[in-house]
Amino acid sequence: MYSPKIALLISGTGSNAKRLIHFKPLQLCCEFIVISSKNNDSMRLFCEENKVDYFEIEGNTEELNLLANKICREKFVTHIVLAGFLKKISFDIIKNYRGRILNIHPSLLPKFGGKGMYGRHVHRAVFNAGETKTGITIHEVTEIYDQGKIIAQYEVSISKLDDVEQIEQKVRELEEKYFPEVVKNFVTG
Ligand code: GRF
Repeated sequence: MYSPKIALLISGTGSNAKRLIHFKPLQLCCEFIVISSKNNDSMRLFCEENKVDYFEIEGNTEELNLLANKICREKFVTHIVLAGFLKKISFDIIKNYRGRILNIHPSLLPKFGGKGMYGRHVHRAVFNAGETKTGITIHEVTEIYDQGKIIAQYEVSISKLDDVEQIEQKVRELEEKYFPEVVKNFVTG
């Protein structure tokens, strides 16, 4: 029986990745591996406790992609989910996994997307622009940054009293609420 195996690629704290691994409907249908582009002892421990293979890969973007591609092939990965992964994915990986790579971006793309738009930078740009709403965009990954087919978008209003931290918190609440379900639907098709 075909069972999806998801590679979670992270560069940050990995809170989205941890939530996916703990999401019951995903646990029932899928296996995971985690690949981090940064040292992350908390994620290493979490993966040990949850019996998930964990890899930390160093090096420049090209070396990192080569290694990630090798790991995904050797571990029979079927889908890739970028959850705060800050490196550009190589054409090789995109070709091998076309239509099976998801990214979550913390704004309502196409607004506040593209190079350099990640983490707090996004929320600061939204704040500086005086937006009245923001949100998350979950999209397929293609060769062009943040421009793959949009799978889901969820928005939240911003009040004049919200500062950058409060905007970030509102976005993280959307990620917590919606990302696991979208990933499950995506991998179980
Ligand atoms: C999240 O804001 C996500 O939208 C973006 O990067 C951040 C990852 O946070 N892609 P974490 O590492 O999952 O805590």
